[in-house]
Amino acid sequence: MKTLITNIKELLQVRETSISKVSGAEMALLPTIKNAYLVIENNIIADFGSMENCPKINTDTIIDAAGKMVLPTWCDSHTHIVYAGNREQEFVDRINGLSYEEIANRGGGILNSAKKLNETSEEEIYNQSKVRLEEVMKLGTGAVEIKSGYGLSVEGELKMLRVIKKLASNYPIAIKATFLGAHAFPLEYKDNHEGYIDLIINEMLPKIAKENLAQYIDAFCETGYFSVAETERIMEAGLRFGLIPKVHVNQFNAIGGIQACVKHKALSVDHLEVMNPEDIEVLKNTGTMPVALPSCSYFLSIPYTPAREMISAGLPLALATDFNPGSTPSGNMNFVVATACIKMKMTPEEAINAATINGAYAMGLSETHGSITVGKKANIIITKPITSFYQLPYAFGSNLIDAVMIEGEVIS
Ligand code: NIG
Ligand code: FE
Repeated sequence: MKTLITNIKELLQVRETSISKVSGAEMALLPTIKNAYLVIENNIIADFGSMENCPKINTDTIIDAAGKMVLPTWCDSHTHIVYAGNREQEFVDRINGLSYEEIANRGGGILNSAKKLNETSEEEIYNQSKVRLEEVMKLGTGAVEIKSGYGLSVEGELKMLRVIKKLASNYPIAIKATFLGAHAFPLEYKDNHEGYIDLIINEMLPKIAKENLAQYIDAFCETGYFSVAETERIMEAGLRFGLIPKVHVNQFNAIGGIQACVKHKALSVDHLEVMNPEDIEVLKNTGTMPVALPSCSYFLSIPYTPAREMISAGLPLALATDFNPGSTPSGNMNFVVATACIKMKMTPEEAINAATINGAYAMGLSETHGSITVGKKANIIITKPITSFYQLPYAFGSNLIDAVMIEGEVIS
């Protein structure tokens, strides 16, 4: 199968040689080719360049992209897409004045989703989750990380991870799985943290490793959830089973989680709404990708990750959705990119880099995803006719996507 896309008004995120991420001032540079062509062979990017050099080749399909932009699909490195039911009532409770913390303290929040998940069959969870996966694919996401963390029991966590595995084998989109047994303490372990962490380490992790159900390990490192010492124990146990840390830190409080994650060579640290100068300092010159989740800040009305300070300090930054039923019931990466520009003062170039190549890095996929590079997966967004790529964040409420191609196939 060979596809030729011609007359592309502007081909974005073109990287002749493969890079793994962009940091600091480099984030403002988004290489593009105006009036371009792109050749896809089987499911791989085979060639691209300026229209004046467009090869005369026989192809199965020709797509005329006159007036349209082509860019790599979004790489959403932080989601909780697999869950049961919803938390609409808590949303209304928050409108009426309760805080996220107050709701959690009443047994709502993560524990509410865990109750629902444990009462729902694996098949039903799969059916509910695949609707969300299909929705985000149509919104331009071509690679996604999905976490467990609403089971909080051996069976519940395994059930979630098996659903993720089934989604990964039934859909063309790349999916990475993260084990988040340490998302909250179940009620019965409220006063026995050791006991629950022992359950994670001695019961859950060996089974997950045996069935090869996850690549990454996560914990909610936060006041009232997992302390830094508890998070370190979990990271160390995960590493013994070959799971690399990708951790929820600094959402509401800066308690030293980032330092612990850097020490354990975490692939990413995620949320970062509350950052001290020392949190920024410790991330410099490390392999740990900071990940911001602006839709969560928007939905909960909490601070946004200080992108400008972090980029000025030379750090890279990735953007992801955090799609989950409590803090971010949206998997729309287009909204994430727009919100990063509008609220975090990232330029469109920075936001697109953060949502493509840096997102790919934050889930170990930058060799195959996140840029227009020969040999990478043919995962592309073809926009509607637009004046410039600045329209993507500028027209923040509009769907500017004409077509999404994942591994060479247009999805409908
Ligand atoms: O990333 N902060 C921790 N976990 C999720 C929210 C979980 C929930 O409210 O269900 C998050 O925001
Ligand atoms: Fe999250």
